[in-house]
Amino acid sequence: MIEEKVTLLRKQFQQDLQSVRDTQGVEQLKVRYLGKKGPVADLMNALRECSHEERPHFGKQINDLKVEFSALCDGALEAFRKAEVAVQLAHEKLDTTLPGRKKFHGRKHPIGQMMDDVIAVFASMGFSVQYGPDIDSDYYNYEALNFPPDHPAREMQDTFYLSTDMLLRSHTSNTQMRVMEKNTPPIRIIAPGTVYRNEEITARSHVFFHQVEGVYIDRGVTFSDLIVTMEEFWKKLFRKEIETRFRPSYFPFVEPGMEVDIRCTACQGSGCRLCKQTGWLEVAGSGLIHPEVLKNGGIDPEVYSGYAWGLGIERLAMLRYGIHDIRLFAENDLRFLSQF
Ligand code: PHE
Repeated sequence: MIEEKVTLLRKQFQQDLQSVRDTQGVEQLKVRYLGKKGPVADLMNALRECSHEERPHFGKQINDLKVEFSALCDGALEAFRKAEVAVQLAHEKLDTTLPGRKKFHGRKHPIGQMMDDVIAVFASMGFSVQYGPDIDSDYYNYEALNFPPDHPAREMQDTFYLSTDMLLRSHTSNTQMRVMEKNTPPIRIIAPGTVYRNEEITARSHVFFHQVEGVYIDRGVTFSDLIVTMEEFWKKLFRKEIETRFRPSYFPFVEPGMEVDIRCTACQGSGCRLCKQTGWLEVAGSGLIHPEVLKNGGIDPEVYSGYAWGLGIERLAMLRYGIHDIRLFAENDLRFLSQF
């Protein structure tokens, strides 16, 4: 009985093995025949019905069958695996002529780069760096700087008010008073930072931009010191001679006040979009610090005098890189930013 069953099972197994096509099929076949509920296990159970004498003989036959099936499966597995790997290798060819994948490196924003350069030049001229707050009181942004309440000059800078008393600073000049309150002359600092104005967003103006304030207070500081410092600064920043022009102007916290223009380096002065066809770029406001402002800062205007300026960073970056739209700086478009 058992002998016949073994023979039959062997035949059946060999037939089934012939029709298997891949490793998965072999695994399934192996489980089907040699698993706990498979025909080989059934034969083992049937062994119990044999006589004591027959048992070792048939037991060996079944065991041999088991070993044989197992070996055949392993052999088939190995063969299919090799074939499958060969197919995979043939299809997944590595094309070593393909260009590599580009890695993106982070870099400094062009405004940050310009800011760093401006700071480095002033640092080399003996100025140290101070920071004032972006959110400040009306007092530091306006009142202490000689803008009385209702003074029309407040309208020069459309301000974002957070409450009746607090605002987003409209210029870095808010740092002037804080520096005067905390230090005694000689004072020689720059104050870089972001400033905010409630203006229409266009190619030339934005609701936030960056300035670098400068303050120098000592005995006997004169207007010519201011002019020389400005001229020296542009030369150092652009590493070449830069023509400057000074125009009288009005800011409540300086007297006299002036506007600093430089020759448009985009068009060499012949007139272009960037300089509105004038050949000149307005780059800074400046002047001698008003005696009232010095007094507000606890500094005696009879003993000390000083100058201050505020220069715009965006304008300089536009000039350096030939950018004609200030909005690009705030859009975070990688196609733009990755060029710097
Ligand atoms: N704070 C002025 C502005 O933003 C610039 C300025 C600074 C003018 C210091 C004079 C002195 O327009």
